[in-house]
Amino acid sequence: MAMQIEVTKTTSPRVKPTENLGFGKYFSDHMFLLDYAGGKWQNPRILPYGPLAIEPGASVLHYAQCMFEGMKAFRGKNGKIRLFRPEFNANRMRLGAERLCMPGVPNEIFEEAVQALVKLDTPWVPSTRGASLYIRPTLVGTESYLGVRPAEKYLFFVITSPVDAYYSEGFAPVKIWVEEEYIRAAPGGLGHVKAGANYACSLKASLEAKAKGYSQVLWLDAIEHKNIEEVGTMNVFFRFKDKVVTPALSGTILNGGTRDCVIQLL
Ligand SMILES: Cc1ncc(COP(=O)(O)O)c(C=O)c1O
Repeated sequence: MAMQIEVTKTTSPRVKPTENLGFGKYFSDHMFLLDYAGGKWQNPRILPYGPLAIEPGASVLHYAQCMFEGMKAFRGKNGKIRLFRPEFNANRMRLGAERLCMPGVPNEIFEEAVQALVKLDTPWVPSTRGASLYIRPTLVGTESYLGVRPAEKYLFFVITSPVDAYYSEGFAPVKIWVEEEYIRAAPGGLGHVKAGANYACSLKASLEAKAKGYSQVLWLDAIEHKNIEEVGTMNVFFRFKDKVVTPALSGTILNGGTRDCVIQLL
């Protein structure tokens, strides 16, 4: 059954960038919001993109109850807009929420939210080759309470951003630093969840790698610091003659949608 989404359209649409989109610099005109309280998802709404009101005691601001998704809408040659495997992202977010003791967003709500927002902001889906509308569904704990326990209130929101390729190199090869000191995730931790905390943990190594002239970090395992895990924002594959290998999903790396597609296509 379709959600009844209350839509408030912007009265001051912003100028859309046409070139040098970069990644995550611009935001489309609207955002989707949905509250969780009293054990129920409620109040689905689309508002003009803008600041969120959140209490300073909100659990996300202290104990990092935060996770997100990253997915894309593409404009085809005939102008048709397509979402790339939204069910994959809906599943990944729902499963990850369980690890962070957050309520999962049901797949149909997740997908309807994304579809409604992209439909309203269709003019923001770029038409240049390689560009897309990046979609960022996000789930955060909003209950204001300082004891350490899972929050009882949450906000699920979706924002979108017209983007080029993630790396400034475009689709050309990037230089990757093999990180032997810092680690991203240990067995039993959050590595397989798209938790904000994993990215906070990775910033120092990324910064140091950038200072040495590398675009990203290749993470090694937390115990022996020698087995390959993944890159900061992507899974990895290696080709040995006619064999292609990739690290297994053992709980410390993200189950990437691209990884899944590559495996299906090979
Ligand atoms: C840590 C990490 N691994 C892998 C990926 C690739 O995931 P996907 O292929 O679903 O975009 C990402 C994407 O941002 C990531 O942040």
